[in-house]
Amino acid sequence: MNAEITPQEYEAFKKFLQDACGILLGDNKQYLVKSRLRRILEDNHLKSLGELLDRIKRPGRTNLKEVVIDAMTTNETLWFRDNHPFRILQEKLLPEFAESKSMQPLRIWSAACSTGQEPYSTAMVIDEFRRSRPGKLRDVKITATDISKSVLDVARRGEYEMIAIGRGLSPERQKQFFTASSNGGWQIKPQIKSMVEFRELNLLDRYTLGKFDIIMCRNVLIYFSAELKRDILTRLHAALNPGGYLILGASESLNGLSDLYQMVQCHPGIIYRKK
Ligand SMILES: C[S@@+](CC[C@H](N)C(=O)[O-])C[C@H]1O[C@@H](n2cnc3c(N)ncnc32)[C@H](O)[C@@H]1O
Repeated sequence: MNAEITPQEYEAFKKFLQDACGILLGDNKQYLVKSRLRRILEDNHLKSLGELLDRIKRPGRTNLKEVVIDAMTTNETLWFRDNHPFRILQEKLLPEFAESKSMQPLRIWSAACSTGQEPYSTAMVIDEFRRSRPGKLRDVKITATDISKSVLDVARRGEYEMIAIGRGLSPERQKQFFTASSNGGWQIKPQIKSMVEFRELNLLDRYTLGKFDIIMCRNVLIYFSAELKRDILTRLHAALNPGGYLILGASESLNGLSDLYQMVQCHPGIIYRKK
């Protein structure tokens, strides 16, 4: 994109992005928009952000809209991100669910899963728990969703480059849960992969995934307006089983956003229980 972004174009793009995926762009992020969209404009022979928006609005251009959303979302993630949630899962939540008399599968939802590190880390903790307490935990199903097709493609493949593997994964877990691929990457083992089902889902849409015992919605609400956060937190509440848990990112909290959950202090770490 050679042309400068005009204030009108920037405002129109901010509105498009917020309506399409909830992301609230700050007032001075023109450089970010430019750098993330440069390639898409070139590939589509477009000269300005205004032309791009016009093209997206044309009927039959849904693919271009997806590509733009993909470019604008931040997919940063790593294995066992923040550690606490996974320790809380291992030491508090799984023992609690293991004691339950329910015959239903334990259902976990990773609601903005990016390239799969979050749901696969969860599956590893479950596998470790099962080995340490054989026969104690009932069937577990992990549903992992994201708005971005390209991150879901990576997640479904379950093959990661060394640099991605190095981010948060211990050598012991790498050895235990991955096999080296012929092209230098690392493939997640079938026993972990088969625990996770990936689906495309926009958190702004109405969804019918059924009820969950644990929802991880981490490092995504930060991009949304307070109004949208409230709305999503209400819908996540409806998607939890009675007594189910919500886990947010380390820098996220429910302060002033929802009184539908009870805060549970886990020393260290905080999770939220459905009221
Ligand atoms: C920063 S990553 C967080 C990944 C993971 N939860 C973690 O904490 O490591 C944020 C993810 O949210 C996804 N996302 C952004 N807007 C979304 C929306 N409206 N619906 C669903 N996913 C969305 C992005 O595609 C991205 O993969």
